[in-house]
Amino acid sequence: MKIKNSSFVISAVAKTQYPEDALPEFAFAGRSNVGKSSLINMLLNRRGLAKTSSTPGKTQLVNFYDIDGLFRLVDLPGYGFAKVSKTQKASWGKIIDTYLNTRQNLIEVFQLVDIRHKPSNEDKEMYEWIRGGGFNGIVLATKSDKMSKNQVAQQLKMIRKELNMDEDAVIIPVSATERAGKYDVWDVINDLFEANGIDIHLERQSGETAPK
Ligand code: GTP
Ligand code: MG
Repeated sequence: MKIKNSSFVISAVAKTQYPEDALPEFAFAGRSNVGKSSLINMLLNRRGLAKTSSTPGKTQLVNFYDIDGLFRLVDLPGYGFAKVSKTQKASWGKIIDTYLNTRQNLIEVFQLVDIRHKPSNEDKEMYEWIRGGGFNGIVLATKSDKMSKNQVAQQLKMIRKELNMDEDAVIIPVSATERAGKYDVWDVINDLFEANGIDIHLERQSGETAPK
């Protein structure tokens, strides 16, 4: 299939607000400002669908995006943003926890880390949680446009080590600015559809070629 329509469904604070059907979902987790919303826009070829901001803390609720009524991408609130009150932090934590721990529809959680930085303790905790929850633990290293090719390779190695990733675990450099890594991510999603017996396969858009 090719994506025809993607649309915002709901910003949920409570479980009761989650869509009630059984459509498969892929969630994007990572610290605030890492580029989750930008990545979702890149994947869907939509400039402003997921709201982005240079001020960390833009996405504070669980945002659901529908793709042709077949599956959803889920933008999780960013963690690790220092400039919020303890109460606010606890509330975000709870919002993320509730989604991740109770959502039956969830096929995979993608963990985003900034390619320039060492993963934080929260990143490590998040990754451990993902693995512990039985997910594959696919890491997307964002803002790869900020680095040279050599540096990218070095940083991927460093992130792998810091997160204690398995040798065969997948880490993909992505850049929303340069629209890089888009089809590597869709390929992973296609594999996940197949592995879960879901009859959906995303094709490249016409005119778009394989990534370099
Ligand atoms: P929260 O909603 O606060 O959790 O942040 P987020 O993870 O959704 O980040 P968002 O997509 O809003 O991006 C944060 C900032 O990083 C924005 O200023 C983006 O323009 C910038 N940004 C996102 N992706 C990239 C990228 O691939 N390259 C570069 N250079 N900047 C990026
Ligand atoms: Mg966001």
